[in-house]
Amino acid sequence: MQQGLRIAASVLAADFSRLGEEVRAIADAGADWLHVDVMDGHFVPNLTIGAGVVAALRPHSTRPFDVHLMVTPPDPYVEPFAEAGADCITVHAEAGAHLHRTLQRIKGAGKRAGVALNPATPVSAIEPVLGDVDLVLVMSVNPGFGGQTFIASQLGKIEALRALIDAGGRAVDLSVDGGIDERTAGLAAGVGADVLVAGSASFAGGPSAYPGNVARLRAAGEAGRTGSPGTRARPRSIGAAVS
Ligand code: DX5
Ligand code: ZN
Repeated sequence: MQQGLRIAASVLAADFSRLGEEVRAIADAGADWLHVDVMDGHFVPNLTIGAGVVAALRPHSTRPFDVHLMVTPPDPYVEPFAEAGADCITVHAEAGAHLHRTLQRIKGAGKRAGVALNPATPVSAIEPVLGDVDLVLVMSVNPGFGGQTFIASQLGKIEALRALIDAGGRAVDLSVDGGIDERTAGLAAGVGADVLVAGSASFAGGPSAYPGNVARLRAAGEAGRTGSPGTRARPRSIGAAVS
């Protein structure tokens, strides 16, 4: 079943010249998780940060570090990020030939294992490993950059995954990443997402704005869940999204 709504602030949108302060500020502002986007300039056309930066940030917050590896191959990076202090390590279904093995490797390192889906990847690509993951991350933009526009066709995928996760009876977090703002937070939560990853919307306006940013995202997500008029997404065809 859908779990408590959590806001995961993506530090990709933080001020990189003072990342430690930014992590403390967004955590103090109420963000539940810190989402760390790791890009390799190969799987995605951008380079960001490595395990050393995660290790440096770790003392700045006790909140869970949700590490999103946009890296291929992912396997060599599992242990370095585990040792750096990641709590959950998410790899892309498209990033390697042996997804099941990679997920086992993450769990072998003592961490929660997540799998991410690009917008063009169908739910069926991860159905065989749903019983092996702690988190599913639906990309609602093409990975590589912050500040992109939410791809509405991914709402059907979230809804389909919500149904599959509920049918499986295990607690699996359903996360959505990319273009999350006050409007799309409600749409995504309305179809079953329980983790909202937000970069631009979390860090807009500098530290004094962070508490309000996080509170508005949470309120929008909660309103989407309860179906406030104009917020909850229309039901979509689950079959169409799975195929
Ligand atoms: C994109 C990253 C996202 C990104 C989201 O590849 O995975 O986590 O930081 O940024 P916004 O919220 O600005 O779309
Ligand atoms: Zn991400």
